Amino acid sequence: MSTPSPSQRVKRKKRNLNSIVREAWLTRKYRRNVSRDVLDYDWASIRHNRISLVNLLLCDRPDGDYLEIGCASNLLFDAVLAGHKTGVDPQSGGTHRQTSDDFFRDPPDARFDVVFIDGLHHYEQVRRDVVNALRSTRVGGWIGLHDMLPRDWIEEHVPQISTSRWTGDGWKVAFELMASPDVDFRLMAIDHGVGVIRVLTENARLADLGETLGPQRFSYLYEHFSELPVVDYDQGRAWIDAFHARSRALGPDHSDD
Ligand SMILES: C[S@@+](CC[C@H](N)C(=O)[O-])C[C@H]1O[C@@H](n2cnc3c(N)ncnc32)[C@H](O)[C@@H]1O
Repeated sequence: MSTPSPSQRVKRKKRNLNSIVREAWLTRKYRRNVSRDVLDYDWASIRHNRISLVNLLLCDRPDGDYLEIGCASNLLFDAVLAGHKTGVDPQSGGTHRQTSDDFFRDPPDARFDVVFIDGLHHYEQVRRDVVNALRSTRVGGWIGLHDMLPRDWIEEHVPQISTSRWTGDGWKVAFELMASPDVDFRLMAIDHGVGVIRVLTENARLADLGETLGPQRFSYLYEHFSELPVVDYDQGRAWIDAFHARSRALGPDHSDD
């Protein structure tokens, strides 16, 4: 399992005056949540991102079915090698102009091989997206989750404080995934944290720890960080490759779990 290097620094993008004033006002408004703790990842120095990860997940099914929740400018969507791609975003990108809740109200019959969740980064929404994705992903398929490792309290805060760097509080779902026997889960320390779920059973369920996790902020993540299955890219890749090797040994279209 990997831990951030203390020598790295949280880098900030350039911001305009309006966003600086807005951030200062919100920082004051939410000062009760201030924490000096930092998970000191330097994401730009890590040479893998969500694009390489999604394509790695799809490499044993290059013609497979891919679903992305939250597509924005299609940076990831257009780079995914899947044969059949569905993208859901109420604002831009993808193939379906609607929210994830609306999409999952009437999902397609066929199950997806890989789902990537990168829509609204609020715990309750990420949780709903995971619950719905578990119903729409085939057994042996994968679900990715973006922005699971905020580095400090501002990056994590809901409501959003900074417009230049924000992961939200989807990280809470990581603790629920660890408590869910129907899935296998790793949290890869690349690209602001990418959660990877392997679906092990039909009707896989997500543990509900909302009562404990709902009110928590960044300091809870910091204090409980060592409990999470955080891995670097190479460790995550070895874990994923082992599943691919097993699927290959069982033969095509064999549900291996
Ligand atoms: C961080 S961007 C996605 C980036 C994209 N996945 C990529 O890797 O390049 C988040 C997107 O989620 C979309 N979004 C916000 N709320 C959503 C919802 N309820 N359902 C689906 N998408 C949502 C936003 O419109 C925005 O385009």
